[in-house]
Amino acid sequence: MSITPFPDIARVDALDKVQGRTIYAADVPLAGLLHAMTVPATINKGTLTSIDVEAALAVPGVVRVLTHNDTPPPPSGPQGSPPLPPMLVPAIAYRGQPIALVVAETLEAAIEGAEAVRATYATEPFAVRIEDADTPREDTESPTFGDADAAFANAATTIEAVYTTTANHHNPMELLSTTAVWSGGRLTIYEGTQTSSGLRNTVAQLVQVDRASVDVISPQVGGGFGQRGEVPRHTAVVAQAARLIGRPVKLVMPRHQIFHNSRFRPHVQHTIRLAADADGIMVAARYDCLQQNSRRGRYRADWYHAGPSKIYGIANYRGTSGDLRLDTHGPAHMRAPYEHPSSFAFESAVDELAYALGRDPVELRLSNDTKIDPSTGNRLTSRFLNACLTRGAERFGWSERRFEPGSMTGPDGMLIGWGVGAGVYQAAMHPAIATLRVGADGSTRYASAGHEMGQGMRTAIAQVLLAGLRIDPTRLTILIGDTTAAPQHSTAGSWGTASSVPVAAAAAERMTAALNRLLDGRDVPGNMHEQLARVRRPYLEVEVSMAAPGQGAEHVERMRSGGNAIAGLHGAYSDFTALSYIAHFVEVRIEPHTRRIRVPRVVSVADCGRVVSPRTARSQVQGGVVWALGAALRETSEVDPRYGGWLNADIAEYHVSVNADIGEIDVSFIDEPDFDANAAGVKGVGEIAMVGAAAALANAVFHATGRRLRTLPVRVDHLL
Ligand code: MOS
Repeated sequence: MSITPFPDIARVDALDKVQGRTIYAADVPLAGLLHAMTVPATINKGTLTSIDVEAALAVPGVVRVLTHNDTPPPPSGPQGSPPLPPMLVPAIAYRGQPIALVVAETLEAAIEGAEAVRATYATEPFAVRIEDADTPREDTESPTFGDADAAFANAATTIEAVYTTTANHHNPMELLSTTAVWSGGRLTIYEGTQTSSGLRNTVAQLVQVDRASVDVISPQVGGGFGQRGEVPRHTAVVAQAARLIGRPVKLVMPRHQIFHNSRFRPHVQHTIRLAADADGIMVAARYDCLQQNSRRGRYRADWYHAGPSKIYGIANYRGTSGDLRLDTHGPAHMRAPYEHPSSFAFESAVDELAYALGRDPVELRLSNDTKIDPSTGNRLTSRFLNACLTRGAERFGWSERRFEPGSMTGPDGMLIGWGVGAGVYQAAMHPAIATLRVGADGSTRYASAGHEMGQGMRTAIAQVLLAGLRIDPTRLTILIGDTTAAPQHSTAGSWGTASSVPVAAAAAERMTAALNRLLDGRDVPGNMHEQLARVRRPYLEVEVSMAAPGQGAEHVERMRSGGNAIAGLHGAYSDFTALSYIAHFVEVRIEPHTRRIRVPRVVSVADCGRVVSPRTARSQVQGGVVWALGAALRETSEVDPRYGGWLNADIAEYHVSVNADIGEIDVSFIDEPDFDANAAGVKGVGEIAMVGAAAALANAVFHATGRRLRTLPVRVDHLL
């Protein structure tokens, strides 16, 4: 594997994307395609007592209306396995849950048919806000080490505060969609997903066919962010509709329904205490997090501790966590799922401690470095957090900062605030299986696990293939997200590049060796295609499989049979911890009368190991920062306590960052490979990009105004 930095090449799919030639799931042209529309429940909790589909069936063009009578109940899996998502069921667990699927010759007829379905319900009381929870908190065991109570008792300085992060929804540009086709006894599903293998397994079980007869094809996803890591309940319903009708069926879910039917980032309350000794060394942390969950939700409350328990050398840590169960759809992963909210709280608390100590917030962080993972005692692999902080401070001009809040004002009277926040995120991996075929005809075909969600997976894979092979780059096809091409694994948790790039590099090496054996010392001119043609060999093909650190052949086999096999969850391997790091520096300018907040510039420095695709890695960090600014200033999903469901269920009222919200974002990388993690030295960048940035913004607001805002989003009216 190359130890030199990779060149800054364009995205391999850039031209297709800007020319509109990229085919997403809902764009696949199919003969005889029918259109579907879901009918959402209009109550929040209860039972469907009747459903009248006559008027819908009378709409010209409507072909069929599926209700719970048309979908089998989920089979119970093996003991201990997570429950399958139900298809259409009479039990209503959240407002907007689909109760029927109308299938028609046109989209317009499907919509008109869906609006004509009439249902009656027996309603039940419900709770959708944590302040209304009607069952007690359920505690989850959480990381605890050292003796935090004793350390607090002996500490020179302590702070304590409560922070709140509200519910948020992902809004990828590509809407949720499913297209299902049955042909010759096989089911093919086109859907933008992060888990084509998981989707295949789930749908096969729900529609009760062998997984070997299901193919999932997801070569391009228009944004994942964790929303596509779940198998939505409508997917199998669409497959069932296509089976019952005998024609291909496509559903594109409107965005206002997606808010109700996709998972979301839950509302969390974070209570943090920090203690420092007389030298300003952090000696103890106490962190309690309380999140909303659904009645049977499995989203883990204890995972908020992943970052705070590892980021600094805090020897005494007491973590607690709990759920309040509510009548909503289940919360689940959304970019930096635990790390974004926990870092907002924890890095705000570190800033509060810095001010309590009278110390510069960068310098306080630098003096709390660690060589070991304090939560396990294991050694940390490459850790350049202090380098990120130091370089970021330099690029930002932090030395010009005045410590006192409210002490910096622009010539136009704007209140200026400079804030810092840091973050860690797991460097996780999964096994990988790849096939590589180089043809005498000039083509190269590479197939492996992975999903292209716009993050640049194909570009990263192309980088190592083009570095290792003498091939025609214009005829390189990279097949990922396709269960017909290679065994798939879910792509999430920032493990994509670290899992997919080392195996691509190994395949290139094996191909080179195979060709050298074939040529057997003969001096054959030309690139690999030309060499194969000259020795009259139509193609050469190699297969490579690879396990992650600490894994063996059984993990490769688990993945081959459609399962997930993740190593390094929360960065923890058997004898080391591998993490990515970042430091963000944010400038806010606040209008003194209206308190309007603008962010003219951000400096972010990331240590994500070796950067394989500089162009798309930089985009990842810029995107993460943009999202963090959105989460810090704009985004919140408002629940309706009267009727349930989400009130601002569209992007007109759920405000994401727009161009006017975004100034200059200066991104740089440490770019030091971590060879403990993998042969490519990659740690992962997708989620670390966002971690700590919201705190940097809130800390900047404090620095500008002296007002410590502990609830996201920070709003103008909180500053008045
Ligand atoms: Mo991510 S939220 O693990 O897709």
